[in-house]
Amino acid sequence: MAGSTQVPILLRAARGEAVNRPPVWMMRQAGRYMKAYRDLRQKYPSFRERSENPDIAIEISMQPFRAFAPDGVILFSDILTPLPGIGIDFDIVESKGPIIDPPIRSLEQVEKLRPLVPDESTPFIRPILETLSKEVSDRATVLGFVGAPWTLAAYAIEGKSSKDYATIKGMAFSNPDLLHQFLGKIADAIAVYARHQIDCGAQVVQLFDSWAGQLTPQDYETFALPYQQKVVQQVKETHPDTPLILYISGSAGVLERMGKSGVDIVSVDWTVDMAEARQRLGNLGVQGNIDPGVLFGSQDFIRDRIFDTVRKAGNRGHILNLGHGILPKTPEENAAFFFETAKGMRY
Ligand code: CP3
Repeated sequence: MAGSTQVPILLRAARGEAVNRPPVWMMRQAGRYMKAYRDLRQKYPSFRERSENPDIAIEISMQPFRAFAPDGVILFSDILTPLPGIGIDFDIVESKGPIIDPPIRSLEQVEKLRPLVPDESTPFIRPILETLSKEVSDRATVLGFVGAPWTLAAYAIEGKSSKDYATIKGMAFSNPDLLHQFLGKIADAIAVYARHQIDCGAQVVQLFDSWAGQLTPQDYETFALPYQQKVVQQVKETHPDTPLILYISGSAGVLERMGKSGVDIVSVDWTVDMAEARQRLGNLGVQGNIDPGVLFGSQDFIRDRIFDTVRKAGNRGHILNLGHGILPKTPEENAAFFFETAKGMRY
């Protein structure tokens, strides 16, 4: 077995090695657009149960792998999953999204937070990642993921998804010391969590700072970038060879600054032309960036958009992905076509 093991294509591309086609996976590739997922969701209506019971989480992670054989398999979980381990409870409520009650608003609450001990507070992560590694073996790359401090703080402070981020921005601009203390504690916990995922089998880790695109570039440099850097530095200290990816929704305004986080690959959303992203990012790897809405078009249209993006990204250090998560109403056959097309390409 050991002698026949090959390094999977996504991991090679993530390391900047030459490959003969773009590796491909999709953000949210397990989820509501798949009938198999919707059926399982009926049986297990609680998101926390689906993501924290290893058998169910493994089954959900494997659904898209069995259906489409993507080059990456991401564990089924959420960016909020480690928060209860530091003392912040959450739930995910149908049609509302994440709810954190009570939200974090005071110094007393921040001081009470605990350091993260992953095998104690998230004991399901180890069996999920170890089993996925065994199941996919060298047929795909196992991806771990974490939320970045700004985005996790936004949920914890707002208490739910927000359109304007008024509460966290209010704290940033009237009580920055409190927010910095909170962000520092989250960064330490998230670095521990990312290292743990790697120790359990994750070969690449993606950092989601989904809502950092809501910041002015100046505030990004104060409240998002330093804490991305803190996580990246701590992970690279112990795991220098594990490629890290950073995703932000609304990356256009901060693309070069994303590169300063220290990650190996910048995940670009669809508002940026891939050729321009390449120019702006220099030698860094890129991921993306098909508009998830493209998967509602005809297959000819989907193929044209994939070819265009792949040509613009060039033949080194590109992982094909969407510019954000696949939308719940996407036809499954178009998702299948997306993967097939990418896997049939040759540079
Ligand atoms: O990519 C994958 O397949 C792994 C699974 C994954 C989930 N959440 C499962 C999930 C990943 C990578 C995430 C990350 C995540 N979670 C992010 C960053 C990515 C992004 O979208 O920007 C964010 C901001 C969250 C927070 C979150 N969790 C929201 C806003 C929601 C509700 C969204 C919605 O569409 O309802 C969730 C719930 C959630 N996490 C779902 C899934 C599949 C949907 C709930 C369900 O299926 O019942």
